[in-house]
Amino acid sequence: MKARLFSVLTVAMVLLMSAPMPAVSQQGAPKEGKALYERHCAGCHGVAGDGLGPTINDLIVPPADFRSPKSRIKTDMELYLAIKYGVLFSPMHGWADRLSDQEIWDVLSYIRSLAPFDPIG
Ligand code: HEC
Repeated sequence: MKARLFSVLTVAMVLLMSAPMPAVSQQGAPKEGKALYERHCAGCHGVAGDGLGPTINDLIVPPADFRSPKSRIKTDMELYLAIKYGVLFSPMHGWADRLSDQEIWDVLSYIRSLAPFDPIG
């Protein structure tokens, strides 16, 4: 009887641990991110992520070149926060009111596909 209870508990535990992740996952979908990036970001950051979008002549602060060591050395969390809350004193406003957390991870994973994280710089 005791053994049976134990195995029921084990099964319950395994099920609980394999339950789907909560809505906010840190797994971005680069495919979804590409469309978002091209719609919202490429005008400044450029389709290739090199910071050479068509609108940059109007900006006081040049957009980040994601392919530069300066950006690639930053962690996903640093870039995530820049997208969500913006960069102070720059035309990079936060997107928290326009993109969901999942969309921010999607767009970030697309940026990382253009310019992978490089901790050595
Ligand atoms: C109006 C132009 C503009 C648009 C549109 C824009 N950005 Fe930016 N972004 C900037 C500028 C300018 C900076 C650099 C600020 C600085 O270097 O101080 C920046 C910085 C960033 C950074 C920080 C990079 C780093 O190395 O620190 C990230 C990440 C970023 N942008 C992502 C995005 C994403 C994603 C979008 C679209 C959802 C977007 N940006 C749309 C202008 C823009």
